[in-house]
Amino acid sequence: MWTLFCFFLLALQDHDKPAERAAPYYPTPQIVVDRMLKLGELKRGEKLYDLGSGDGRIVILGAQKYSAKATGVELDHALVVQSRARIAKLGLESGAKIIEGDLFKQDYSDADLVTVYLLPITNIKLSPVLEKMLKRGARVVCHDFEFTEWKAEKIETMEDSEGRSHTLFLYRR
Ligand SMILES: C[S@@+](CC[C@H](N)C(=O)[O-])C[C@H]1O[C@@H](n2cnc3c(N)ncnc32)[C@H](O)[C@@H]1O
Repeated sequence: MWTLFCFFLLALQDHDKPAERAAPYYPTPQIVVDRMLKLGELKRGEKLYDLGSGDGRIVILGAQKYSAKATGVELDHALVVQSRARIAKLGLESGAKIIEGDLFKQDYSDADLVTVYLLPITNIKLSPVLEKMLKRGARVVCHDFEFTEWKAEKIETMEDSEGRSHTLFLYRR
């Protein structure tokens, strides 16, 4: 009984732990967003999650161009407000939504495609979480920083309009 009580307390503590900032805000250039979604083979009606969705650009393009059911998870309140306003302005509410919260505390078990542009240190923590949670066949596209424990199915490099190089990694569970 005592052990059960301790587990209960631990679970509560974990739930109340403040969210960790997993990466600063640094948006993916729009041309790279499109390439990420192409590489991730996003199809009409599929479920897309962008972990740390910033201004919502991946979610918005996923819903707008690919007709996906797109969800972003974002910790920063100002970015949540900004991205929700853009989704509303574009009339994309039926296909795009933003969850305000910690990307480590969401359920991605129905995802067809997950997009990730975070830091290497965050990816080390995130990959085992996704490994357990994602369904068979789900794809993950990482921008610039790979999942070192996973084997990429494809790796692509490209330049943005300012000549900066970007590397994209496609994984399939
Ligand atoms: C490098 S930006 C990428 C933004 C967007 N995905 C893109 O590619 O344009 C990382 C984003 O993750 C958000 N973030 C950091 N830690 C987070 C957390 N624990 N939960 C949810 N979002 C988080 C940041 O606020 C930031 O907007």
